[in-house]
Amino acid sequence: MAGAIAYISRDTDGVAWRKQLEAGLGQIDYRTIADGLGNTDEIEVALAWKPKPGLLATFKNMKMIVSLGMGVDHLLADDKLPEGVPITRIMDDGLVGQMSEYAIYWALRHHRDIDKYAASQRAKAWKPEEFVDSIHRRIGVMGLGTIGQDTAKKFAALGFPAAGWSRTAKTIAGIETFHGADGFRKFLARTDILVDVLPLTRDTKGLLNAQAFATLPKGAYFINMARGGHVVDADLLTALDSGHLSGAALDVFNTEPLPADHPYWTHPKVHVTPHIAGATNPRTASSSVIENIKRLRAGQPLINRVDPKTGY
Ligand code: GLV
Repeated sequence: MAGAIAYISRDTDGVAWRKQLEAGLGQIDYRTIADGLGNTDEIEVALAWKPKPGLLATFKNMKMIVSLGMGVDHLLADDKLPEGVPITRIMDDGLVGQMSEYAIYWALRHHRDIDKYAASQRAKAWKPEEFVDSIHRRIGVMGLGTIGQDTAKKFAALGFPAAGWSRTAKTIAGIETFHGADGFRKFLARTDILVDVLPLTRDTKGLLNAQAFATLPKGAYFINMARGGHVVDADLLTALDSGHLSGAALDVFNTEPLPADHPYWTHPKVHVTPHIAGATNPRTASSSVIENIKRLRAGQPLINRVDPKTGY
């Protein structure tokens, strides 16, 4: 009998994952935190989202960790994470599409002055606004992995000049690309709508600070659908309050859930959503996980592996 598959997340009960895994793998020994993990020596695969630090290290015979998010910072934050156990992450076209939609929604809402029109409607004011042509509204996507590339290409298809920034150099048809520290300044200086999809790593923590916001052109808009840890919150608030930035749509925060007394909740220039830009959906995310469990059991190389050194 193959080893057990453990669902290690407190966000949902894991029933939907069980259904998908059973459909792909047949009968499985499936365990959840809620129902009890039983003898944890029998756990072969852990599907994990924000596991309690130290927990995964107690699964002595675990052969693969599957991150239930595309970001793996929630795993690498565990300093007892068992070394040598391969980490894979979900790759989910459904999630990728949702992320692009999120960025496009807020970008268009800003670009087409929808919040100003909503205020005019409340005042019963018929007041056309000056508008910026799409070809002059420069989109900049930080992070050019699967999500960033999809997002940048969709903006380009809508007629916006789209650029991307990544740690290492990349070439993508139709997208202006920048990389490294020097490229970061140039990238920010030409970006009217900044979209963050970077992973959270040692190098990207606090990257969006006062200096970065000041490098954006006056009136720039910021969309964060990556990780709150990239942002120095006090610096973002200062940039919004000074009028340098025109607004922000934030889905992710340094502390989640966002504390009730946080200024973002009521800031007139900030839209807050509760980390929903790209929800992991077992219906679309399970196929690559099933593939990897089959590969693991057949002794074949795994797909979607994470390099713990780079953090993605
Ligand atoms: C969600 O934040 C994810 O990492 O997939």
